[in-house]
Amino acid sequence: MGNINACVDLQRDGDVAVIVMDNPPVNALGFALRDGLMQAFARARDDAGVRLVVLTGTERAFSGGADITEFGKPPREPNLRQVITAIEDLPKPVVAAIQGVALGGGLELALGCHYRVAAPKARLGLPEIKLGLLPGAGGTQRLPRLIGIEKALEIIVTGDPVPAPAALALGMVEAMLDGPFPAAAVAWARQNATAPRRLRERTDKLEPARADAGLIDRVAAPLLKRARAQQAARACAEAVRAAAEKSFDEGAALERQFFMELVKSDESKALRHVFFSEREAQKVPNLPAGVEPRKVLRAAVIGAGTMGGGISMCFANAGIPVTVIETSQEALDRGLGRVEGNYNTSVKRGSITADEAARRRALLEGKLDFAAIADADIVIEAVFEEMELKKQIFRELDRHAKPGAVIASNTSYLDINEMAAVTSRPGDVLGMHFFSPANVMRLLEVVRGAKTSPEALATAVAVGRAIGKVPVVVGVCDGFVGNRMLARRGAQGERLLLEGALPQEVDRALTDFGFRMGPFAMGDLAGLDIGWRLRQARGTRAIVADALVEAGRLGQKTGKGYYAYGADGRTPTPDPEVEKLITDASASLQIQRRAISQQEILERLLFPMINEGARILEEGIAARAGDIDVIWLHGYNWPAYRGGPMFYAGLVGLPYVASRLEAFADASGDASLRPAPLLARLAASGEGFGSVGTARG
Ligand code: 3HC
Ligand code: NAI
Repeated sequence: MGNINACVDLQRDGDVAVIVMDNPPVNALGFALRDGLMQAFARARDDAGVRLVVLTGTERAFSGGADITEFGKPPREPNLRQVITAIEDLPKPVVAAIQGVALGGGLELALGCHYRVAAPKARLGLPEIKLGLLPGAGGTQRLPRLIGIEKALEIIVTGDPVPAPAALALGMVEAMLDGPFPAAAVAWARQNATAPRRLRERTDKLEPARADAGLIDRVAAPLLKRARAQQAARACAEAVRAAAEKSFDEGAALERQFFMELVKSDESKALRHVFFSEREAQKVPNLPAGVEPRKVLRAAVIGAGTMGGGISMCFANAGIPVTVIETSQEALDRGLGRVEGNYNTSVKRGSITADEAARRRALLEGKLDFAAIADADIVIEAVFEEMELKKQIFRELDRHAKPGAVIASNTSYLDINEMAAVTSRPGDVLGMHFFSPANVMRLLEVVRGAKTSPEALATAVAVGRAIGKVPVVVGVCDGFVGNRMLARRGAQGERLLLEGALPQEVDRALTDFGFRMGPFAMGDLAGLDIGWRLRQARGTRAIVADALVEAGRLGQKTGKGYYAYGADGRTPTPDPEVEKLITDASASLQIQRRAISQQEILERLLFPMINEGARILEEGIAARAGDIDVIWLHGYNWPAYRGGPMFYAGLVGLPYVASRLEAFADASGDASLRPAPLLARLAASGEGFGSVGTARG
């Protein structure tokens, strides 16, 4: 508890006032912290015994920025801009002593100080764009004055944090201090902080842009192209332009205006929802307090196929030794050869060094005998998708795994409880469903079986995080959350083709929406035989998809699928043969083909998925709507600025979604398209999916 208020402490070290921010966990600049800072700086200003001020935070954070939970609520003064102005105006030198993160409003606060020093592990940045915003407390005006337009634009438009050594090289901080904080900063201040210096008054770094009218556009163009949140990216560039072309006050006013507009935008609301949903998803529901994950020092993976290879790489990349088991030397060589190839590609691209690749590769060993899993703390099965085979493997794992090892299946659809039942330790069994390519995609569905123990679950989640994944806990059902919803989209895709659309039209509806790929281009990439085999196993049919496979069109790997692939084997072009195949299929079913609008295509693809999401939520397969959104973002490349399917449903309005689903059900006679009871109820009551479970709205 500080002596100014609950969040701020003012200490004296001789003639230096040390103001400490302590608002756990990350010193978000909520009202109490702002108010405490105002009071502390006033006291330092009025105290004749104070010659210098050092402003610092905790080891974890100088400050993580404005308090995002306050957005959309009535503002309370002092606002952050007033606090920063008061600091900048102080007639005594102020030094920001940065440990941990100084992000967003946190960095803006440091830019209001007259000097900045940082610990070697500190990270400084303006990540507002990742929330669909721009820095709103002077960051777009002060950072260019400190480090020049070009670097400032890059930092603001990418939102990526700058590690302390790079910040020092750029001049964002004056010194990097190894010693203990705040003592080292106080000593530095005594030596170096001679007089107040106000960035607001500085213009020398703006001169290149003032002398060269085209500079900003040249620097901004490639950055804008890559930026995800387009509206915010454009505002960032315009605000920085104002820094060069206008006075500080005019630039700051424009920045403010953009901020107020953006904070109300759907893009920003969606990205803020994503921020909180990702953090909420980490809180595993119904886990008794005090449950600790088990230690995982060694892993094993069964099967070195597409998924097994990628999963093994995840462990090796995180420094965890991993044993891969296969049925034959040939299969093992093939699998490890693919892993080797992946590492070589990374080295060629420059993303890792050859030494690093060799170090990772050395953590992977191949074996043909199940006895080799005996030391593993976690075993992940990734053999063919066949229940009988999986059961056989689980019996083997039960025989060989050490007591307490977590035993997981990477199955896409199958029942984890059935696999657990053949072992003597169902409490240690669960699903760990990775997404292809497993070494790249961040989603991990952790499937909780009926008998999975809290410790095993906590361990799988902790391991997921340790290997850089975003784990989301889900329940057992056919396809879990992601694939179960995807199946609804797939069925509509096929129906749309039969009713009159072509693959490129369906795909365009989704790429225009923001997906990187449409469902048919995606299918071609993954291989159309995957779905075909699944349908064969279930005795179901998809007339167009089956016809393609039966004609040898398996996708990119055979040079043709829903599209034809040119010389590079990767660029899809519409194929008249496919059009004929589709129109023939329509004719054989006596369907009168019609023109289908892009709007209808989009709604037909997304709304049935959302409807399935509502069923998943109602059944408790997902704990919160936000979990479903996180799954779609990290497993299926749902565009982040659209917030995920369940959030998107709220934006377009649940009553609208429900009414369209009724219309689709009427037109097709497919009763499964009728709104799920939960969706119907929420649509009628005016509530959102966020009101279900513990999710935020
Ligand atoms: N406001 C409110 N809460 C915040 C927050 C913020 N700016 N930053 C983090 N939190 C909360 C998280 O929601 C989480 O809460 P929980 O424990 O209840 O789930 C908790 O702090 C810890 O966060 P993490 O789990 O993310 O902790 P990490 O140590 O992994 O990461 C971090 C810390 C790097 C600060 C990360 O939280 C982060 O990136 N935060 C957002 C930073 C950001 O975007 N700042 C800009 C805000 S907008 C702004 O400043 C506008 C200004 O220009 C006017
Ligand atoms: P794959 O066919 O590429 O690889 C399976 C591997 O398992 C083969 O190398 C095979 O030799 C090996 N294998 C078979 N029996 C074995 C045994 N008794 N002991 C040791 N190894 C054995 O299959 P893929 O695509 O890697 O799929 C594996 C699992 O992952 C399946 O359950 C699948 O549903 C699931 N999955 C697949 C995804 C994909 O996109 N391919 C995505 C997510 C999950």
